[in-house]
Amino acid sequence: MFDVLDRLPPDPILGVTAAFRADPSPHKIDLGVGVYRDERGITPVPEAVLHAERALIAGQSTKSYVGPLGNLEFNARIVELALGPLASQLKERIATIQTVGGCGALRLGAELIHATSPASVIHVSTPTWANHEPLIGNSGLRLERYPYYDAARRDVAFDAMHDALERLPAGAVVLLHACCHNPTGAELTPAQWRLVAEIVERRGLLPFIDLAYQGFGDDLETDVIGLRVLAERVPELLLAVSCSKNFGLYKERAGALVAICRSGTTAAAVATHQARIARRMYSMPPDHGAAIVARLLADAGLRGQWQQEVEAMVARMKSLRALLQSRLQARRPGTDFGWLTRQRGMFSLLGLDEPGLARLRSDFHIYVPPDGRINVAGISAANVDQIADAVATLLG
Ligand SMILES: Cc1ncc(COP(=O)(O)O)c(C=O)c1O
Repeated sequence: MFDVLDRLPPDPILGVTAAFRADPSPHKIDLGVGVYRDERGITPVPEAVLHAERALIAGQSTKSYVGPLGNLEFNARIVELALGPLASQLKERIATIQTVGGCGALRLGAELIHATSPASVIHVSTPTWANHEPLIGNSGLRLERYPYYDAARRDVAFDAMHDALERLPAGAVVLLHACCHNPTGAELTPAQWRLVAEIVERRGLLPFIDLAYQGFGDDLETDVIGLRVLAERVPELLLAVSCSKNFGLYKERAGALVAICRSGTTAAAVATHQARIARRMYSMPPDHGAAIVARLLADAGLRGQWQQEVEAMVARMKSLRALLQSRLQARRPGTDFGWLTRQRGMFSLLGLDEPGLARLRSDFHIYVPPDGRINVAGISAANVDQIADAVATLLG
């Protein structure tokens, strides 16, 4: 059976970690995989999450199955976290399924679209997160691209994006990053979100929102302004939520796929399809991470503590952006590095060409994925000068 298989090339992002580990240099720096790290280089579990987890384990009396839709309290609380007051207004029109992380939500959303309308085309930003294409494309949906990033201005190419959306046919699916665009860090303004919502509504497009970094851009509310503008305005929307980053629950694989439907009757039908897709692929999601999140969000004290911990993480990322900006500015006074602090979240693109990226690794022992994305959380007071030296040299 298996002798016909050839070895596959490494995953573009996970392969960076393997290359980093193999480098014997004591000065090597890993700006690759997208996990938050603190000043010690550790990816911490927030204290509030640990408290919720301990309480959960202490009170757990069964490990019986949860059902294909997962933990229903988690589903309700995650919708409330993402949509705020809109959650109760739209309650009847919403169908939610707990998923295997944000990736599971993206895939299940793509499967749901494919089951409903197999000829649908899903439009993703150029560039987008490297895993969007395989995750969504493997469902059988056709993938196309819309312009998003202006590399010269290091900002959203909004006019081009707007024009592209205006040309899409009714029923086209548009994948949008809710915040902290991966890999560019370039964000839509609230006014631009309103324009997008207007086009989506007028042209009958289906927005599919990827919310993997709520709280990592500015704060838990600001980061979902665009999502809420759309949810309020459009009749149908899909939302893929990940709890990996903001709850620090990466390996627990907690996420949700939320479908806002035109009516309560449709939402009830959609829930049966969500459950069937899950049942056919993996039957039921893992319970632990979602149960922790449900417990934390239900407890006002833990929720407040967690919010403060997320705020501390984002403050750190913003200060690291400012630190790298100032060190680069000092080395190249004639170049504007203001984009580093204008962009949001864990990622930015260095803007190096291919030879520059190769030298980043060979000459400076700095590891980034092939698109030149940096994980800002990998910067520290100890390594910032090495990074600034490398980038200032290689920008040409
Ligand atoms: C843009 C984006 N979407 C979704 C995800 C999925 O996250 P996970 O499946 O780890 O919850 C990630 C993770 O890196 C991401 O960067």
